[in-house]
Amino acid sequence: MSETKAKAAAKGRIVKIFDTTLRDGEQSPGMSMNLREKIEMARQLERMGVDIIEAGFAISSPGDFESVRTISGAVKDCVVASLARASAEDIDRAWEAVKDAKNPRIHLFLATSQLHMKYKLKLTPDEVYEQAVEMTRHAKRYTSDVEFSAEDSTRSDMDFLARVCEGVIAAGATTVNLPDTVGYTTPEENYKFFMDIREKAPSLDKITISTHCHNDLGLGVANTLAAIRAGVNQVECTVNGIGERAGNAAMEEIVMALHVRKDEYGATTNIDTTEITRSSNLLSSITGVKVQPNKAIVGENAFAHEAGIHQHGVLQKAETYEIMTPESVGLKTNNLVLGKHSGKHAFGERVKSLGYELTKDELADAFGKFKILADKKKSVYDKDIEAIVAKEAVQVPKTFTLGKFVATNGSDVKATAEVTLVRDGKSIKKTGDGSGPIDAAFKAIDLIIGYDIPLDDFQLDAVTEGEDAQGDATVIIVGDAGARYSGRGLSTDIVEASIRAYINAVNKMYYAERDQ
Ligand code: KIV
Ligand code: ZN
Repeated sequence: MSETKAKAAAKGRIVKIFDTTLRDGEQSPGMSMNLREKIEMARQLERMGVDIIEAGFAISSPGDFESVRTISGAVKDCVVASLARASAEDIDRAWEAVKDAKNPRIHLFLATSQLHMKYKLKLTPDEVYEQAVEMTRHAKRYTSDVEFSAEDSTRSDMDFLARVCEGVIAAGATTVNLPDTVGYTTPEENYKFFMDIREKAPSLDKITISTHCHNDLGLGVANTLAAIRAGVNQVECTVNGIGERAGNAAMEEIVMALHVRKDEYGATTNIDTTEITRSSNLLSSITGVKVQPNKAIVGENAFAHEAGIHQHGVLQKAETYEIMTPESVGLKTNNLVLGKHSGKHAFGERVKSLGYELTKDELADAFGKFKILADKKKSVYDKDIEAIVAKEAVQVPKTFTLGKFVATNGSDVKATAEVTLVRDGKSIKKTGDGSGPIDAAFKAIDLIIGYDIPLDDFQLDAVTEGEDAQGDATVIIVGDAGARYSGRGLSTDIVEASIRAYINAVNKMYYAERDQ
């Protein structure tokens, strides 16, 4: 048992964290990830201590199948689940994908609300009952760990829902999940809902009861906490709260609410809270979607005390305005770490202490980038190193690399950029013009590729403070089939950071669409 697990056991009830970042989260617009990115994210979820990883929806596409199968082989300390509709074909495919996992789970679902049964499924309640029970039995032939979700539970008739719960438990379901699929319920209602259903379907208390709350009214986390109070022992959530429409309940908020308010909830989790910030940053870096600055727990301002009176209080005694420490969620202070004379060994040790495991080649590449940065920047901080390494960890094959670029701009001249990209050892040079040097450079790259790439989003931030801070550019481009690809680039020169981000996104697009 790990130290975190041992501590949690000593403190009483443990609520299991079922993370669906790679399924419910990934299926929302702009959040798609390639196979390497999903594996990297799954490894981080494992490191953070989630109990169950929902790795995807195996039947939905060959890519989803492959990522569930690969994650099943890569992850050892968590249960790995695949989603399936309540049909034999879906369940067979889900099993194919998870069967090599150390701890496989099949997660099947079927809607139980009148609205869904009548208009979507076009089935009577009796037919839904039969299908739910029969398909649970089908899944049970493959594995002992079967989860059944009654989609749109919170808008279902309670007596019918209780009948379905009893039926699937008798058929072998070991977890029953009762989702608030459309984010309609309120905390008071969700509490009552779980208290009532436990009374109407007493077998629920012999298995794992789960909640899964969407955030359409901004109540996803509050509803989840209310369900915990009503006795559920599994919660389904995502990192940064990503997910369909307004998202799912945010993992980091649920975990820290239980952690900080143990007195109130009397429940804890197996999560190593010091891995929260890294998980959030990794997801943002992969998807190119940053969290809002005032987002609880992981927003940039979550631990920033701007008002003088607050700063004074915190300096005197942290608890005056701080209910948890930045360190408890793994937020590092801005340490000055290395300089331009630091060697590869010291750099490698620092990378390791920040928790990254890089291959020899990745480390060599990251060290090269560190040296270039250390030459340009007076002080290199942990954040700078994390920015370099996090990007290195989820690289795709580099179809194109940047040779060189020259950009010109001024108040009276049109911005132009001459960019040279290298592909298969051959240099290709083109000149573009545009409304500014970054726009001109992107146009030049489009000319090299021979394709006018739609740009969906572009953001530029600074990694640290100070005039010589690294620029951190994120672009999101749209590929042939409408899929979005994010790219990230770092440099003390913001035009170069932007070009690198654009090339990174293009390489991801080639990896997904052209080179496979
Ligand atoms: O929101 C929902 O109901 C779901 C189920 C498939 C679990 O995501
Ligand atoms: Zn959902």
